[in-house]
Amino acid sequence: MLDISWNTHASRIQDRIDVLAAITEERGMITRTFLSEATLSANQVVAGWMVEAGLMTSEDRVANLLGQSPAGSSGSVFLLGSHLDSVRNAGRFDGSLGVVLAIEAVEILRSAGVVLPFSLGVAGFSDEEGVRFQSAYIGSKAFCGLLTLKELTLPDRNGQTLREALERWSGTDFILPNPTFAPGRVAGFLEVHLEQGPVLESEGLALGVVTAVAGQLRCRLTWTGKASHAGTTPAPLRRDALAGAAEFIREVEKGSEKFGGLMATVGRLAIEPNVSNVVPARVTHTLDVRHQSDSVLNVASAWLEDRASTIARGRCLDFTWEILQATTARECDPALSRRLLGVVERVTGSTRLLPSGAGHDAGILAPMFPVAMLFVRCREGLSHHPDEFVSLEDIRVALEVTVEFLRTWELS
Ligand code: GLV
Ligand code: MN
Ligand code: MN
Repeated sequence: MLDISWNTHASRIQDRIDVLAAITEERGMITRTFLSEATLSANQVVAGWMVEAGLMTSEDRVANLLGQSPAGSSGSVFLLGSHLDSVRNAGRFDGSLGVVLAIEAVEILRSAGVVLPFSLGVAGFSDEEGVRFQSAYIGSKAFCGLLTLKELTLPDRNGQTLREALERWSGTDFILPNPTFAPGRVAGFLEVHLEQGPVLESEGLALGVVTAVAGQLRCRLTWTGKASHAGTTPAPLRRDALAGAAEFIREVEKGSEKFGGLMATVGRLAIEPNVSNVVPARVTHTLDVRHQSDSVLNVASAWLEDRASTIARGRCLDFTWEILQATTARECDPALSRRLLGVVERVTGSTRLLPSGAGHDAGILAPMFPVAMLFVRCREGLSHHPDEFVSLEDIRVALEVTVEFLRTWELS
């Protein structure tokens, strides 16, 4: 093992996560959405840390930040990282932990003069959460050459399309990018991320290794009825779009009981005209559905769509169901994950494997490169909340595992 002051490095990771938490587009909370000034300025700050760690930095066509150590003779590269965007009113560790910890690991290996069989790359993906365009992973999809022309037509809430936003930012026509790395060049990708769930904490474990990332469907539902006077329209004559949406949201809850392990959420809702004395004419809302099994996810989403159209018919509402994003469940690479688990066992004594209910950039990279994910315990399993918390001690252990995982590559 290396003679390293792990606590000093873990403290620096924590300090840098605090610096990133102060970079936000909404005062008093952490919000960094795709291509916002805050997200771009987070890139600049992180690029400075990458340079200090000896990495050469670049930004690609969708503002993914990449830091690379000098290429070795093999031409092979091992990638680490996570995302730098956030949800609205986010916690400080989601995404940031994986990027900042990766930079620290690179710095430790460089300072110790460790020679690896590959160069190292650290990615800070520009959009994992999908807050602005309601479709996640714009960053990692572009990185893998998977972004599509159809996705470029997605509008944000101001009606600006993804293509327009990208062209405005870059000042040039947007051309769909090819993969940043050919699959054969990448020895692996490791994403360190807080668990965002309660399993590790409940078992008293600092770390776990992820087996697979759940599939996810994101839809936009629109219910159209008719605006009318709130004081004079009798119940049988109302075509109340919000009442239809509300009935459906109750079915969404029932769906989670009906299909074991289903996670289904309506998280954003827009009502028109949205005034107190008019029957709501139109409601648009999101629907996020996830399951570890793609087949259960498909059956459950067909059931939900059927429930929605039955409700719409019964209430004389027009109804549309648009799929904004469909991501299948993805397995982590068994061999890479086994190696990671071996290091976790040596450092912590634990051999906990667990699946991820949350989506991750590693899931997008998985079909192209061997990927592994290290989960770090978080307090009360809380995430996507300002109280999200990972202890200094757990950061320290995750850092040690990451460094050992790379340092011992040739010994395994
Ligand atoms: C990302 O955090 C997601 O799982 O939605
Ligand atoms: Mn998240
Ligand atoms: Mn995340």
